[in-house]
Amino acid sequence: MIGRLNHVAIAVPDLAAAAAKYRDLLGADVHHPHDLPEHGVTVVFVQLENTKIELLHPLGENSPIAKFLEANPAGGMHHICFEVPDIAGAARTLVEGGARVLGDGKPRIGAHGLPVLFLHPKDFDGTLIELEEVKPDLLPA
Ligand code: CO
Repeated sequence: MIGRLNHVAIAVPDLAAAAAKYRDLLGADVHHPHDLPEHGVTVVFVQLENTKIELLHPLGENSPIAKFLEANPAGGMHHICFEVPDIAGAARTLVEGGARVLGDGKPRIGAHGLPVLFLHPKDFDGTLIELEEVKPDLLPA
């Protein structure tokens, strides 16, 4: 069911410092910060050859990652995102198999403008998993 690893998201306490480390120390292709108010985060995309890293920092009140950073003040891996071709079908299969989809169980539009959903970390060995619907015809050649 799952396809490519779309991204690994890391919550960071200092976005500028984290971006500088990826750019200057690791020599990665680091994009400019991007405010996503509807998701309560500011994100810096780090484009790697085979996937992306997303550096996340809370934006505004009730950011979904504020609590995570409170519990992990030095930052830490927040979630990993796999691509699926059919997110509604994936959700059905997962729920039938006993996994819990977070929220109301319905996909919503994620940070890349594509449908996403999140799976309960307790069902996946302590890892928050995001699924993002990427149609095969949208994949770069
Ligand atoms: Co994500």
